[in-house]
Amino acid sequence: MTTLNSDAFVFFGATGDLAYKQIFPALQAMIRRGHFDMPIIGVARSDKGIDELRARARESLKKHGGLDSGAFEVFSAKLQYVNGDYGSQQTFRDLRKVLDGASHPLYYLAIPPDMFATVVQGLANADCDKGARVVVEKPFGRDLASAQELNRILHQSFPESGIFRIDHYLGKEPVQNLLYFRFANSFLEPVWNNNYVRSVQVTMAETLGVEGRGAFYEEVGAIRDVVQNHMLEVVALLTMEAPTGRDPDALRDAKQRALGAMRPLAPDDVVRGQFRGYRKEDGVASDSQVETFASVRLHVDTWRWAGVPFYIRAGKRMPVTATEVLVEFKRPPQEVFDTITQGQANYLRFRLSPNVSIALGARAKMPGEAMVGEDVELTVRSGSGDEMLPYERLLGDAIRGDPQLFVREDGVEAAWGVVDPILGNVTPVHEYEANTWGPAEAEQMMSGDDHWHNPQPISETILVAKE
Ligand code: BG6
Repeated sequence: MTTLNSDAFVFFGATGDLAYKQIFPALQAMIRRGHFDMPIIGVARSDKGIDELRARARESLKKHGGLDSGAFEVFSAKLQYVNGDYGSQQTFRDLRKVLDGASHPLYYLAIPPDMFATVVQGLANADCDKGARVVVEKPFGRDLASAQELNRILHQSFPESGIFRIDHYLGKEPVQNLLYFRFANSFLEPVWNNNYVRSVQVTMAETLGVEGRGAFYEEVGAIRDVVQNHMLEVVALLTMEAPTGRDPDALRDAKQRALGAMRPLAPDDVVRGQFRGYRKEDGVASDSQVETFASVRLHVDTWRWAGVPFYIRAGKRMPVTATEVLVEFKRPPQEVFDTITQGQANYLRFRLSPNVSIALGARAKMPGEAMVGEDVELTVRSGSGDEMLPYERLLGDAIRGDPQLFVREDGVEAAWGVVDPILGNVTPVHEYEANTWGPAEAEQMMSGDDHWHNPQPISETILVAKE
């Protein structure tokens, strides 16, 4: 791994949505912290110039996190613009001039995946790829075969150590804490297995719909958009063995073994839903079969996790916005006192977004003569989300050449291997009302007495006991 810092930051898709929502705020934040000292070069095809790009960045920052006039002034002075078509070699010749001899540029491909190959080829033809790194957005491909092809194309110009596949969930503080909490606490290890864990749930609920991204969403759907990447990465962090060593690849090796142990999903393991009204969104087909909700039942075929169902659910237009993990433990073997088995079984709850909390659900005796209990929740950590924007953290890592929080080639392919059998229309799509928890079929897919746990709007709320 090269540890040289990048000496120019180039982002393709400078006038696009991702730059607007994530890249400008991350750059401003890095400048504000004094972590960033290199030229910034935006590349895009448009009829606008550098002044318009600066104005767009200013507008973006006002909407996403706030404008810091001092940092923005520095940002504006560093910003340059290359206007051109990605299919034209002239664009890359122009870029080379603007790079002005930078020997370790970082290229961020914030562009549609079908343009990746063209841009990588253009960079190579203009000799811009030497000593460079490339950051690639998700979804990385559309399925296993296209991900493999994309890896092949990238490797023609970049070694694996120069490729940074972003999954912004890995840059989230609460996701990092999930990993830390698991391996920093010895009390967890004896119960972190199929002897004590009954099931694990991961819910990623969003109140928003597709918000003007209808055309993009039609190409992906919930499984490609968030299950293949964010959700499976979270499950890998929950199920992996401890990394052996501090080498950045130690973590990725351990995660890779967990991803590799996930059993490919079968059509019976998935329920797809679509919120009523989705087909009226701009860019969406009137008979679209694309899912805006997906729930899956996953198995991790290891000694530790054999027989434990992992339920994963992700949906748009849900009643709350929250990503939460619930590890539910088995109940005590005997009803020694009344009501022991009536309430909620013990659980560990990790709220990953938008706020952070780690909480332990338990039963405690209610005051009084009777030996009857109630559900209580012990909060281990509770706070307001990220200290640092995930994109700020990840771009900073890429600039320093630290690959730990990026998805490796084998990782991205393993994750596609899990979802590949359920992509497309192999299962029906069920309509659900906006502001609900998805189609009823999602509840029916649960095994035995399992039920979905719905994240509460307030992180501290104790789970409501099941009937
Ligand atoms: C993105 C998806 O990767 O993650 C979006 O493309 C989704 O559809 C977003 O809304 C959610 O991210 P966060 O950080 O807001 O939970």
